[in-house]
Amino acid sequence: AAELSLRPRYLSEYIGQAAVKDNLKVYIEAAKLRKEALDHVLLYGPPGLGKTTLSNIIANELGVNLRTTSGPAIERPGDLAALLTNLQEGDVLFIDEIHRLHRTVEEVLYPAMEDFALDIMIGKGPSARSVRLDLPPFTLIGATTRAGLLSAPLRDRFGVVGRLEFYTMPELSFIVSRTAELLGVGMVGEAADEIAMRSRGTPRIANRLLRRVRDFAQVRGDGMITSELAETSLGLIQVDPKGLDQIDHKMLHAMITSFRGGPVGLDTIAATIGEESQTIEDVYEPYLMQIGFLQRSPRGRIVTPPAYAHLGLPLPQTPERTD
Ligand code: ADE
Repeated sequence: AAELSLRPRYLSEYIGQAAVKDNLKVYIEAAKLRKEALDHVLLYGPPGLGKTTLSNIIANELGVNLRTTSGPAIERPGDLAALLTNLQEGDVLFIDEIHRLHRTVEEVLYPAMEDFALDIMIGKGPSARSVRLDLPPFTLIGATTRAGLLSAPLRDRFGVVGRLEFYTMPELSFIVSRTAELLGVGMVGEAADEIAMRSRGTPRIANRLLRRVRDFAQVRGDGMITSELAETSLGLIQVDPKGLDQIDHKMLHAMITSFRGGPVGLDTIAATIGEESQTIEDVYEPYLMQIGFLQRSPRGRIVTPPAYAHLGLPLPQTPERTD
């Protein structure tokens, strides 16, 4: 609840994601003008960029209720039917991790999205028949880390698709300053930049680092977040100046020492450092690629020269020819 109250509640308070935000503003206003439910919205992008926050904002802006669930939480078609039949006209149903919906559930979702109808089977055997139940018009907001993880028929049923991008440094700095103000902690502007720099383009990480730095400020300092205090505390938390944590380091070091910097396959990297492939692909890789430390090739992942420089490691000798 404390976390929620820090989040922006309206589009005007939401920083960054200009492309998604500006278009949503139009679609929301149009839906309200026509007194219709907003078309279904798919939000995708790396974790922590504001998919849940945006869903809350969309419901607020529309002035409707928001129901929140997640793909894996809906175990059976009946679970989804219960959710859908409890919606009021125009409400938003938010399904996080929508790529993890069970196939049987997904099939119930298609007519619900397209025709606001629920097809239910009644009875068993030869006397079984299907009954169509009308639903109130509603808006489904689906969130996923990668749109490519969705089945094509599901993806095709979203009228609005928004891709969330990593935030810029000024945007993150602004978000950190806003959160500090809401938390009532004093901070100099340069300290906000220092935190922003190490936040991997991600507001969730920026706000988490801010809380930890605030702890150091209150226990080791006088409560004020100065640049020096921010820098020292961030060092102690083990996020480096580029925002890389121990897992990023472990991964890059493993690729360099065991595989000459690649190309090496994702599953091999995952097995070597004991992480899930999916976590590496969704959480770690996108940012490492964004800052140019990692490249994808048909033969696997490759560590780039700037990453060697950042880690203070020498570039490998010219690789042996393998062809
Ligand atoms: N807090 C977390 N994300 C935010 C955003 N995009 N804008 C404003 N405050 C935020």
